[in-house]
Amino acid sequence: MDLFIDSASTHEISAWAETGLVTGVTTNPSLLAKSGRPVHEVLKEICALIDGPISAEVTASDWGTMLREAEVLRAIHDNIVIKVPLTKDGLKACYHLVRREIPVNVTLCFSAAQALMAAQAGATFISPFLGRLDDTGVSGINLVRDIAEIYQKGEYGTAILAASIRSAAHVEEAAKAGAHVATLPAKILEALYHHPLTDKGLEIFEADWKQTGQSIL
Ligand code: G3P
Repeated sequence: MDLFIDSASTHEISAWAETGLVTGVTTNPSLLAKSGRPVHEVLKEICALIDGPISAEVTASDWGTMLREAEVLRAIHDNIVIKVPLTKDGLKACYHLVRREIPVNVTLCFSAAQALMAAQAGATFISPFLGRLDDTGVSGINLVRDIAEIYQKGEYGTAILAASIRSAAHVEEAAKAGAHVATLPAKILEALYHHPLTDKGLEIFEADWKQTGQSIL
């Protein structure tokens, strides 16, 4: 399973790009608003930081305007993936974009039926929102599992991009449930490194090594 960063902060993205662990970026209108910067400028900078799929979302609600917005966003960089909402117009825009060989990420997915429609429209990625679904008392991980089963049986080429991830456990479970990608906020990426036994083990190694008085360099 690939790891993307869910952020529109060039500071955060640049720090994670250096690790080589993150191979793509997802943004959304809320994240871009939070950056407080002009959208075209931020997206251009993000594309220079990571050479992989960079999702940029349309903001119109009708498919005709979505297509015009998509054209502007794609002019920024070839790695831009057009993100459309899982609405009738969004899926119509998806169908027309994919026919022009433009990659599409269908976002705000909360049911397997919605995911099936996105795959029928030819989506490159489907983004089920795990955390927001969990908040309603329905399991986000079960949704990923259901989508994976449907996509496998129907031989769809759409990749499952688990979004709205709230914990390291979400990441492990999403990978086991069949997600191809998980997009994570920087704080969850950071949490993936940590285990108390790693910290404890390192303390012991450092103390033992100090006693030898040696240096590798
Ligand atoms: O990028 C969309 C998604 O990851 C949003 O997550 O935490 O706002 O539910 P969240």
